[in-house]
Amino acid sequence: MLQKEIIIAPSLLAANFLEIGKEVEMVNHSEAGWLHLDVMDGRFVPNISFGLPVIRDIKKVSSKPLDVHLMILEPEKYAKDFRDAGADHLIIHYEVCPHLHSNLQQIRSLGMKTGVAINPHTPVSFLQDVIQDIDQVCLMSVNPGFGAQTFIPHSLVKIRELRQMIDEKKLHTLIEIDGGVNLENAADIIAAGADVLVAGNTVFSADDPHDMIKKLRAANV
Ligand code: DX5
Ligand code: ZN
Repeated sequence: MLQKEIIIAPSLLAANFLEIGKEVEMVNHSEAGWLHLDVMDGRFVPNISFGLPVIRDIKKVSSKPLDVHLMILEPEKYAKDFRDAGADHLIIHYEVCPHLHSNLQQIRSLGMKTGVAINPHTPVSFLQDVIQDIDQVCLMSVNPGFGAQTFIPHSLVKIRELRQMIDEKKLHTLIEIDGGVNLENAADIIAAGADVLVAGNTVFSADDPHDMIKKLRAANV
């Protein structure tokens, strides 16, 4: 069987913000597939990160697609602004969207890939009736809000369930794992059925981030 391509998406939250241009350059020249950007509003999650102006500037220098993870209430109010700022994929949280189906149509009509993130307590089965409209499910393997947390082991069970749901429906939805990914757990995460690994701390605190990205990708053995 052909080995599937694993996408690594470094999360800029763990970068040195005084050297942000250099950090984006590092990702540009690496084997990373996407650049993951965590937007936090201090309401849905107990932390505030960065927003539209920062993404607009990053777009000017990034050669990788911008994978924008919105940890904010009422994401539909800002979808167009994030598209205009340069988001290629827009990930919204299941927990803040009473009209998820309509929010996904909005994101698609704006020309972005659709992403839905689910918190550790949200069952995968809640996506059953909307999965066909999702390009990527971002399965949170930590509680959202902070980098450098510990991977929640039960996430592996959720990855397997989601893999089964996607395969049974013969869809191409990607499974993205976000939080606590490192060299010790990457192989298990990939074996469970993940396609995309977000990695913040593991990449940006590595002595050699390029090499770390390469190693995470190759954990697929
Ligand atoms: C957490 C964010 C993650 C975070 C991952 O709320 O969604 O993307 O930056 O960081 P690490 O890989 O350090 O757990
Ligand atoms: Zn994230």
